[in-house]
Amino acid sequence: MKKQKRGQFLIGVTLLLIACGWITCRVMTAYSTPSEELAPEARVAAILESGGCISCHSANPELPFYANIPLAGDIVKTDIEEGYRAFDIEGLMAKLKDGGIPNPVDVAKIEKVSIDKRMPMAKYYLVHWGSQMTDKKAAMIAEWARDYRMAYYNDGLSGERAGEPVRPIIAKAETDPRKVALGFSLYHDTRLSVDNTVSCATCHGLNTGGVDNLQYSKGVENNMGGVNAPTTYNAVYNFVQFWDGRAKTLAEQAAGPPLNPVEMASTSFDEIIAKLAQDEKYVAEFNALYADGITEANITNAIEEFERTLITPNSQFDKWLLGDNEALTADELRGYDLFKANNCATCHVGANLGGESYELMGLRQHYFEVRGMELTEEDNGRFKQTQNERDRHRFKVPGLRNIELTWPYYHDGTRATMEEAVRDMAKYQCDAELNDAEVASIVAFLRTLTGEYQGKKLTSENENGL
Ligand code: HEC
Ligand code: HEC
Ligand code: HEC
Repeated sequence: MKKQKRGQFLIGVTLLLIACGWITCRVMTAYSTPSEELAPEARVAAILESGGCISCHSANPELPFYANIPLAGDIVKTDIEEGYRAFDIEGLMAKLKDGGIPNPVDVAKIEKVSIDKRMPMAKYYLVHWGSQMTDKKAAMIAEWARDYRMAYYNDGLSGERAGEPVRPIIAKAETDPRKVALGFSLYHDTRLSVDNTVSCATCHGLNTGGVDNLQYSKGVENNMGGVNAPTTYNAVYNFVQFWDGRAKTLAEQAAGPPLNPVEMASTSFDEIIAKLAQDEKYVAEFNALYADGITEANITNAIEEFERTLITPNSQFDKWLLGDNEALTADELRGYDLFKANNCATCHVGANLGGESYELMGLRQHYFEVRGMELTEEDNGRFKQTQNERDRHRFKVPGLRNIELTWPYYHDGTRATMEEAVRDMAKYQCDAELNDAEVASIVAFLRTLTGEYQGKKLTSENENGL
């Protein structure tokens, strides 16, 4: 009898606990899912706030009370250090609150970790009630991300593809054809170099994918630089130019190579202008277009205007994005799905699949320590410009358009094939080991990104042999 009562008592207590747990759970869920009445930005901000994202992803984290307890505190500090190294959420939070326009890479990143329910991690949400990511919260973020992309890219994507992180190239004719023609001539003119041997096209051939297919470029007198040449095709989509972002615009960029000692090695723009001024055709063209004739600013302005036309629309992938379901094979489509599933489309986003942010090379696994090559000045990346330790080994993410033509890969030109580049990206950036079939599918997808220049599909005169 006594035993039976104790049993009933225990069952009672258990039921009570379950009931309490259920109620608490309901209350907490209700509390942590933002109201549908809030504006979408406010809803996303509330989800990120309740998720504690700012605690681990900011330069000035608010340390939780247990941060000073030995052991627990050490774990928290390591999480914060690694969290801030991996992702800085401050810019996004500020934009969500002030109504500014967030960076598309930030949007892709928070969308992906919330779909995967990877953040906040269990050890955080288990002690912070209401912070856990739920399907409902993830759906709110995805819906906001889709509307954001439709407005941000304004590229006409609609229906089921409106929310894709990769966007089509939409040709917009906003250039002055006379300046474009002048820029074309300057781009191919060796007189920009000290000994009249090297033009922009020497290293960025339009018939070779906009690159030279060398690990490091050769300038005048075969001088070698220390970093791989990115393509000029679609460079107009980059938020800044160069691996380290040291030029804000294409015109600012174009002022660099002519005076760079290992590239064109002219001693000054005056020297270049003096040479160009002997050419009557140039004198007439510059005078017709610019009140002050041949100047450094006008030379670089014309080159920029020309480079704005170096875009490559109409790839198979863009046709698919714009609604042609037949444009991709099942394997290519699987490659795109793998590209998204493995996080590639959190850094390689937008019309150029990159060029919108600086990212750490070796985010998830050390790259430079195992590369088997001495560290070089170029390996410092963005750090060269800012001297901020957090920027060491951060690079402007390269675009992936026409990637099948722009080998070798990475800033150090160490990857000869797309297969190597893809497998190693998965390893170092995403902590994922892809099998051969997965790599092949992603490469098949990447090949669909080759587009058209002046109505013709881009090919390379350099023999690939791959
Ligand atoms: C307790 C600390 C902590 C909290 C809270 C936290 N994170 Fe993280 N986060 C980390 C750490 C550590 C990493 C790096 C390790 C990893 O990627 O798993 C990381 C990585 C990330 C990344 C980079 C992923 C990648 O591979 O590119 C993103 C994006 C991110 N977190 C977003 C969020 C968001 C959004 C929230 C809130 C919903 C959040 N985090 C909450 C610690 C945290
Ligand atoms: C000797 C080879 C060489 C010549 C000549 C050369 N470049 Fe480059 N170009 C490079 C290399 C190497 C880089 C990468 C340098 C870096 O990021 O620090 C680069 C970067 C660029 C970029 C930035 C692309 C990106 O994604 O960041 C543009 C645009 C560009 N060059 C245009 C030009 C123009 C225009 C000219 C002629 C005025 C020119 N280049 C001449 C080798 C060359
Ligand atoms: C955290 C951001 C990030 C993620 C995630 C990422 N990448 Fe990259 N990707 C980069 C950066 C940065 C570089 C340049 C690295 C360097 O030059 O050292 C790069 C370079 C590349 C290149 C070579 C481009 C060139 O012209 O040299 C390819 C191809 C590439 N990534 C594909 C992928 C694929 C496929 C995935 C997914 C498996 C992926 N990336 C995931 C940031 C990222």
